[in-house]
Amino acid sequence: MEKKQWTGVGVRKTFFEFFEQRGHTIVPSSSVVPHDDPTLLFTNAGMNQFKPIFLGSIASTNDMSKLKRAVDSQKCIRAGGKHNDLDDVGKDSYHHTFFEMLGNWSFGDYFKKEAIGWSWELLTKVYGLDPNRLYVTYFEGNKEMGLEPDLEAKELWQSVGVPEDHILPGNMKDNFWEMGDQGPCGPCSEVHYDKVGGRNAAHLVNMDDPLVVEVWNNVFMQYDRQADKSLKSLPAKHIDTGMGFERLVSALQDKSSNYATDIFTPLFAKIQEVTGAREYTDKYGKDDVDGIDTAYRVVADHIRLLTFSISDGAVPNNDGRGYVVRRVLRRGSRYARKYFNVEIGSFFSKILPALVDQMGEQFPEIVKKQNDVKEILDEEEEAFARTLDRGEKQFEKYATQALNSGAKKLTGADVWRLYDTFGFPEDLTKLMAEERQLSIDEDEVAVAREKAREASKSVKNSVQTFAKLNVHQIAELKDQLKVPTPNDEAKFLKGDIKAKVQLIYTGTEFKKSSKDLPPNTPFGILLDKTNFYAEQGGQVADTGRLVIDDVAEFKVLDTQQFGGYIIHNGYLEYGELNAGDEVIAEYDELRRQPIRNNHTGTHILNHSLREVLGDDINQKGSLVDQDKLRFDFSHKTGVTIPELKKIEDMSNSYVQQNCKIYSKDVELDVAKQINGVRAVFGETYPNPVRVVSVGIDVDMLLETPENPEWRKVSVEFCGGTHVDQTGIIKDLVIVEESGIAKGIRRIVAYTGDAAHAVQREAVEFGKRIDLIEAMPFGPEKEAEVKQTTVDLNNLIVSAVTKEDLRTRFNKVVKAVVDEQKKRQKAESKTALDAVTAHFAKDENKDTNYFVGQLPISANTKAISEVMNHFKSKDKAKTVYLFGGSPAEGAVVHGVYVGTDLSSKGVTAEQWSAAVSEVVGGKSGGKEPTRQGQGTKAEKLDEAVETARKWLEEKLKI
Ligand code: ALA
Repeated sequence: MEKKQWTGVGVRKTFFEFFEQRGHTIVPSSSVVPHDDPTLLFTNAGMNQFKPIFLGSIASTNDMSKLKRAVDSQKCIRAGGKHNDLDDVGKDSYHHTFFEMLGNWSFGDYFKKEAIGWSWELLTKVYGLDPNRLYVTYFEGNKEMGLEPDLEAKELWQSVGVPEDHILPGNMKDNFWEMGDQGPCGPCSEVHYDKVGGRNAAHLVNMDDPLVVEVWNNVFMQYDRQADKSLKSLPAKHIDTGMGFERLVSALQDKSSNYATDIFTPLFAKIQEVTGAREYTDKYGKDDVDGIDTAYRVVADHIRLLTFSISDGAVPNNDGRGYVVRRVLRRGSRYARKYFNVEIGSFFSKILPALVDQMGEQFPEIVKKQNDVKEILDEEEEAFARTLDRGEKQFEKYATQALNSGAKKLTGADVWRLYDTFGFPEDLTKLMAEERQLSIDEDEVAVAREKAREASKSVKNSVQTFAKLNVHQIAELKDQLKVPTPNDEAKFLKGDIKAKVQLIYTGTEFKKSSKDLPPNTPFGILLDKTNFYAEQGGQVADTGRLVIDDVAEFKVLDTQQFGGYIIHNGYLEYGELNAGDEVIAEYDELRRQPIRNNHTGTHILNHSLREVLGDDINQKGSLVDQDKLRFDFSHKTGVTIPELKKIEDMSNSYVQQNCKIYSKDVELDVAKQINGVRAVFGETYPNPVRVVSVGIDVDMLLETPENPEWRKVSVEFCGGTHVDQTGIIKDLVIVEESGIAKGIRRIVAYTGDAAHAVQREAVEFGKRIDLIEAMPFGPEKEAEVKQTTVDLNNLIVSAVTKEDLRTRFNKVVKAVVDEQKKRQKAESKTALDAVTAHFAKDENKDTNYFVGQLPISANTKAISEVMNHFKSKDKAKTVYLFGGSPAEGAVVHGVYVGTDLSSKGVTAEQWSAAVSEVVGGKSGGKEPTRQGQGTKAEKLDEAVETARKWLEEKLKI
């Protein structure tokens, strides 16, 4: 066969077409961030989104439940969790943190024969891979688990023409695929490709040889692994396959490495353009003498993980999947800086356009989210850039110390310090250590981490009692100690500064040194200047640290201002501090970012409130922190939903206009003349006062302060920190509007990533309502409605959206209630008809009682209606009625003792007590009636029998 030139795009397209022709539906990749499954860090296999189908738990109204065959290319991340390839990335030719998994699925449809036949046909006939280079494996069985060898798979491979010496048995590890510790699983059969050829490479299969790699895995899903490790059979048998797209392309392009294919070359070209580095040569290990090829691979791999994870809503932070994103970015930044010698701060975002060009067509979400991704990458990189250089120096020091002392590893304390002070993730330090032939000891690091945690715990508990300055102490500082108040202008800039320690304040006295303070004592530090924001005007205090690298580190947990003096409160992590020491002052910039968003958001909101609700709006209180903004204002009535929508829309239009924020210190008298300026009534402002305006330069406002146009501008007296441009806020979402006192309303709003998170929640909730809407009436729908009512009440999303959701959901609820009423009525009739029909039968003509189950649900009302019918219209007869079923999981019963039997001493109370004993629960009522609800629906038949026997016994006596 003539060798075809395959492009990556062509390979993917061919895969889709092949299976589409065989009855498969092309489905889009699911999000690489499984937002609804907190136990899973990232989507790590194509089958993740189909798990409910395998388990048979998918709602029948879900469109996917109709799928019989599907094909897709799933975005996968394996960095952290059960499947983690991060450590191998860069080092070898075939591992990636982000990759595409091509897959075809059968949901209870075709099984092994077709799956194996098609795999072979596609690989050898369509893609044209040389059959002599392919090896296949099958499950050898496992006695302990009671699993037989998968000889069927073996025979099927034989039948398509695979020679005996290319078919290999494999154990549980290689040939029994499991999604996780629990969940769907089954024996599997892999296809491996030998990149060399002209030999028998069977002995290299599954041996981590870069030239003999697994390309495709066919899983025969038939079990569900239980928590107790046992295997339960699934309701049906399925096919789940996963082919490594990058590996397949590498085989088809006849490259020894995935990185030498056109999946990576455009990224390498971009990296070269941005860094000016030498060309990529695809060398590994020792052959990559200058480490540049490894760095190319790391950067190209990492930009893929970063872009796809951030686009799908994973935000870098210090926890779970967010920390994976942060770690990967830091790891990549350090490679870029060390090997490409580039400035860190906006490096990855320069590579981003090449990736978007290359993959945007298949995955349009990365085109849509490109700007957000760029912003987040830049923010994160910039924050890390601050400590990267210092951290590298510190690392060098530790490494040299270790090597000089003959130690083969860094101490746990060193590794912890590199993380805690410089933000170096443990795996980055490990990698750097390996470059110097050193190792790290994870247990030691854990001990150091725990020690630091213990120490900080006791101090953090005393945050409330942090030092405050009273008037006498302020006077002492000023008059006796002659300490000038610090310059804190740097809080309006971004970045660290160097500052000098002036004094240490214990809460009662000023000291020149921390030397004599017992360890873990909370105390305060006064600096000659600072970039920390001291709590003021509703904006919370900055946190951060004051550091002398490798000498001392002071953790700042709170920053307060007293008479112009600023106290940084916290505790010493190590070392000591003395007056005159120069420290690096690092406020937590990643925390400040959302605070800035929320503060500017508050101004925009304040302005929009006045525009929409009128001039009686005055600020009554405000809180700006890293999570939200909370704004209290005077307004006589509640804000209606349409008003709220207007306010939110107007706020967001300011955000979209990307207005510049201006600020300037202005003489108080002059500033007060600006038409419409917002100030808090009763607050004393300093002179000069800082004026913050959105979209119009303060100087321009001051040229004609009376200008009526200025009322349409947000202008406030404010000492807070703000974004440079409103666009940075991204979105403002009002999640709550409520009254907190007479004439005072409160709004809580989110901005930035927090706003996006709630928007995502709202979309998900909307989908949930779609599903419920489509469900047929029945107990399943009723249970779902009940749960959703509770969840909707607790849902934190835009108040406007919540109202929409509520309106939609109320319709669903009403339909269910109407249906219940209808059913109720119909059942009442059915119940009465059944009992009347019983008495009408010839053989029952002479009986005066009926004990039995009615063909109705656990419908209390229907039962009481039948009881009442007899009580008022046919008094002599007795009825003991049952409703419900074990399938429904509910049972109800009710008795009316007619006059015939009551005269014989039968009481409803005793009778129903006998029944309750069997079905559980209690009954209540007044003679001659009694009704109850059972807790053991499965005992229904027995209960009916008991009721009958009880009466027979009673009548015998
Ligand atoms: N679910 C299988 C895998 O991930 C196909 O390898």
